[in-house]
Amino acid sequence: MSTAKADVELKDFSNIFRLDGKVAVVTGGSRGLGLHAASGLLQAGCAKVFITSRKAAACQEACDALNALPNKAPDAIAIPVPADSSKLSEIERLVAEVSKHTDHVDILFANAGATWGEKFDTHPDSAFAKVMDLNVKSVFLTIQKFAPLLQARATAEDPSRVLVTGSVAGQGIGTLGPQSTPGYSASKAAVLHLMRNLAIELAPRHILCNGLAPGFFPSKMANGLMEMTGGVEKLAKETPNGRLGRPEDIAATVVFLCSRAAGHVNGETIRLDGGKLLDRARL
Ligand SMILES: NC(=O)c1ccc[n+]([C@@H]2O[C@H](COP(=O)([O-])OP(=O)(O)OC[C@H]3O[C@@H](n4cnc5c(N)ncnc54)[C@H](OP(=O)(O)O)[C@@H]3O)[C@@H](O)[C@H]2O)c1
Repeated sequence: MSTAKADVELKDFSNIFRLDGKVAVVTGGSRGLGLHAASGLLQAGCAKVFITSRKAAACQEACDALNALPNKAPDAIAIPVPADSSKLSEIERLVAEVSKHTDHVDILFANAGATWGEKFDTHPDSAFAKVMDLNVKSVFLTIQKFAPLLQARATAEDPSRVLVTGSVAGQGIGTLGPQSTPGYSASKAAVLHLMRNLAIELAPRHILCNGLAPGFFPSKMANGLMEMTGGVEKLAKETPNGRLGRPEDIAATVVFLCSRAAGHVNGETIRLDGGKLLDRARL
């Protein structure tokens, strides 16, 4: 075979972004970024997507909407498993519940998170601890407890994937002033560095770890802060590409990072902010 012929023959390239038959778990999957991701995972071919968050009704509602998606695989299913990610016992129960439906997990999106805004001088001990615990320690414990299921079928050719949700607040400076978010900002820097550590720790077990660093995406968590910092229109105008994040931005990035297309990406963070963090000219 000529070199050129060999070089153009990419194996099954038309399916390189597909996730057919994969099993995924999405924490904080009942709404917002987690739900956008779950929608993308199912529409890219996942066979089972477990949706977890604290509120049972919200998990069920999310799964009902996902199970009604017209272009998921006919037998694909979203399964609600309510659990509080801030408690180790609940993470262990989540793993046990998921294990009743599957002997392995291909994709874990450790996305559940919380924030707290209050000025520097009165920023409470309890809020700082709560945010660090859920956004960092619980992400570590979720990945640790799911590791056996993630390893179960993973191979060098077809590695499992772990994604964590950081933030541009963990790369630049978070919100200052009356709604200051020092704990949140530190937690998002921490979770992205945790991910880099785990990327190296877990790669020999055929588990690749990567992160997202979103800018503003309208969501229950972000809407209040977006209102306080100028509102949707002003924030969109201040962004180099003139808009805020959209559900498809999250869904597509998650699908890419979980697919064969990202099979050699490990320990990396994709920023989803339209270039705002880089744009010193507008600061
Ligand atoms: N939206 C943005 O602009 C933006 C930007 C950067 C990063 N992020 C990050 O993206 C992630 C998702 O945020 P979002 O904007 O999608 O917010 P959201 O709409 O408020 O969703 C948060 C999700 O996390 C769940 N959750 C909260 N506490 C939990 C706990 N203790 N255990 C299990 N689940 C819990 C919530 O459900 P329950 O209430 O039922 O538990 C919900 O499903 C967070 O890590 C956030 O920091 C968001």
